[in-house]
Amino acid sequence: HERDPARRPVLAVDQGTSGTKALVVCPERGVIGTGAAPVRPRFLPGGLVEVDPAELLSSVVEAGRAALADAGEPVAAIGLANQGETVLAWDPETGEPLTDALVWQDRRAESVCAELGAHQDELRQLTGLPLDPYFAAPKMAWLRRHRTRRGAVTTSDAWLVHRLTGAYVTDAATAGRTQLLDLDTVEWSPRALELYGLGDEHLPRVVDSAGEFGTTTAFGPEIPLTGLLVDQQAALLGQDVTAPGSAKCTYGTGAFLLAQTGAHPRRGDSGLVSCVAWRLAGRSSYCLDGQVYTAASAVRWLADLGVIAGAEDIDPIGSAVPDAGGVTFVPALAGLAAPWWRGDLRGSVSGLGLDTTAGHLVRALCEGIAAQVVALADAVAADMGEPLTSLRVDGGLTRSALLMQAQADLLQLPIEVAELTESTALGAAAVARIGIDPTLTVADAVPEWRPAAVYEPRIGADLAAERLAGFRSAVSALMERTS
Ligand code: G3P
Repeated sequence: HERDPARRPVLAVDQGTSGTKALVVCPERGVIGTGAAPVRPRFLPGGLVEVDPAELLSSVVEAGRAALADAGEPVAAIGLANQGETVLAWDPETGEPLTDALVWQDRRAESVCAELGAHQDELRQLTGLPLDPYFAAPKMAWLRRHRTRRGAVTTSDAWLVHRLTGAYVTDAATAGRTQLLDLDTVEWSPRALELYGLGDEHLPRVVDSAGEFGTTTAFGPEIPLTGLLVDQQAALLGQDVTAPGSAKCTYGTGAFLLAQTGAHPRRGDSGLVSCVAWRLAGRSSYCLDGQVYTAASAVRWLADLGVIAGAEDIDPIGSAVPDAGGVTFVPALAGLAAPWWRGDLRGSVSGLGLDTTAGHLVRALCEGIAAQVVALADAVAADMGEPLTSLRVDGGLTRSALLMQAQADLLQLPIEVAELTESTALGAAAVARIGIDPTLTVADAVPEWRPAAVYEPRIGADLAAERLAGFRSAVSALMERTS
């Protein structure tokens, strides 16, 4: 296989919110090397979340080099997955950042969205995205108004790729997270750019998710970059969710439920995002996307308060009690996304008593995350016209049996945990391989999907409905208080 580059290993890099993970993936032997490097976003008053762009780049290089050293053999290509809606301004001449990166969770562009309120339906029809500061365009406009008129203002992938290879590109799926991409033509929308006051920007070229994007020596030897894909869509691909109507949920910093819709965008009215899943050989595949803004970041918050030491405590501490003891936790620590789109809301914990323990809080948090995922699955079912029959899941928090059981219980469906939980990196590896050999199909490029565990519901539909109703009324109470 030495002579056939498509049979050689590739380096897959998943540049996420809280860290970068890298895998060396061999088509025959699976994962043969791993590396990781942390990233430390700053959480500031007023819902601001920033990160030093240099940290994003150094984490990519560090994790990638570690994975290559671990594998101990050369790779044919690199695939890069990125956070999606994290933006910065930078100097295209020098590659130097001109601002910190505003992380996707950052809420400061609420003011930009408020001004565009009259155009929200038009923007949604055009781009498939609702008006919310989560997306890249409001943050790009905010940076232009409040930070700098100089240089380029782009999502973090375009900057990273420029630093690695010198190219100035963004893949169609990442571009689809801006609210500047025409959902039907999959090109920048002049009208959306005009509405955001970004008509004069020199934006990166929108490219397929697989192709020849340049080469880099950042990891040692010169390696071609042949795969680019936004992280949630990469996980959709990595989990082999390619049949219309099937879905996955990734439990990372946030939790994201995506359902494949096939060759045409589906503009539903259940509040989900309609966007590009990937574009290969000029042909786009589409998905519906729903978001839980805080999953592992809500766990980290509980740890910062000292209630638990970290995510590894969820199961031992939560298992010490049989249920949430009447506590309801709406973990809207950065607001609520689909289907509510109330980024202005903040979290709540109710039903506390003198007998409430850390275990009850942990269980209530798990149920709060899981209940949001149920709302997203319900929205998918409404938009697709049929219910999901199971849910494939991946990401770090799938290691918690307590959370996964809560998910199966509340969703009343089997939860299938991927054997390889780094689905995002596997998706990045898949597009990198297609970039080397465009004759490969998606099915050829992704590893065969196998579950490591399947969680079946253990409570009845009545009890699940009662718990969900409790969560929904806590959300309604928050909305009444904040409206
Ligand atoms: O939309 C943001 C999301 O894709 C970031 O993913 O893995 O960093 O939570 P993650």
